[in-house]
Amino acid sequence: MHYRHLFHAGNFADVFKHVLLLGLLQALNRKDKPWCYVDTHAGAGLYNLASNDAMRTGEWQQGIGRLRVEPDTPALVRDYLALVDWDESRPQLGHTRHYPGSPRLAAQVARPGDALLCCESIPAIAEQLRVHVPQARLHLRDGYEAHSLLPPTQKRGLVLIDPPFEARDEWTRMEQLIERVQARFAGAVLAAWYPLKNVHDAARFDRRVVRQTRREALSCQIDVGRGDAGQMHACALLVVNPPFGFAATAEAALRWLSPRLAQSGGVRSEVRPVPVEGARPILPGRASRHC
Ligand SMILES: C[S@@+](CC[C@H](N)C(=O)[O-])C[C@H]1O[C@@H](n2cnc3c(N)ncnc32)[C@H](O)[C@@H]1O
Repeated sequence: MHYRHLFHAGNFADVFKHVLLLGLLQALNRKDKPWCYVDTHAGAGLYNLASNDAMRTGEWQQGIGRLRVEPDTPALVRDYLALVDWDESRPQLGHTRHYPGSPRLAAQVARPGDALLCCESIPAIAEQLRVHVPQARLHLRDGYEAHSLLPPTQKRGLVLIDPPFEARDEWTRMEQLIERVQARFAGAVLAAWYPLKNVHDAARFDRRVVRQTRREALSCQIDVGRGDAGQMHACALLVVNPPFGFAATAEAALRWLSPRLAQSGGVRSEVRPVPVEGARPILPGRASRHC
């Protein structure tokens, strides 16, 4: 059976990824020039959290289900909660309780002239995506071939690489894709999500990407603490070419989110530059670490 995101939609990793994604898209929206959003592993675009599959894992209840607007909620998280239309005062499990995926979030902040380009390799999922995000140009194909769709006519944009991490060569394939995307769409912001299971694999990946691209990069991480045995509890987003000011915005959002998403002690979040020889340093204050 192939990976199904419905089991995981709205979990802590989705919240983490989608809040940061929104921060990146808002940064692109600061300029009038149109952008192109590329989602290499797009998914269905919208997930019914009251469905049997979503309820079977109940992961969203430890993710989006934990959040509500509070007096000190950072602006980025407020905007995210407004976009996903999350309101805890409404009944939780009505049959209309849906959570948007990355392409739908991007569609919600896109302006006239901005473009959405999505790859999804599973036909049934792609069909759902077509319904949930009709404005996206959809490619039923391997997302690791997304570079062949580039460059877009909009000369700026964002590429989200969000594979299911089922295959053993996922790290290598991500590295190759990043290299190929950069060769064709050099100015793009690249955001690559991955689970943090082995910190050495993760750090090696970050370093190799920065060495290869010779671009600034930020490693954004969250660890919500060990929950039920065997479940992923930490993940990261590597952002290459981070927009100005993104590090501080991301840090504030993660500092607020991490205690609210905690499964146990040992909660940690971090936004830090990935060091590499020869890359332009990120200015102090644009990245920091907190536990
Ligand atoms: C983690 S989910 C994507 C979630 C989505 N980006 C979001 O944040 O809402 C990964 C998706 O990639 C699809 N997929 C798996 N292998 C793929 C491939 N080689 N190319 C494109 N899509 C693939 C899966 O069917 C699944 O829908």
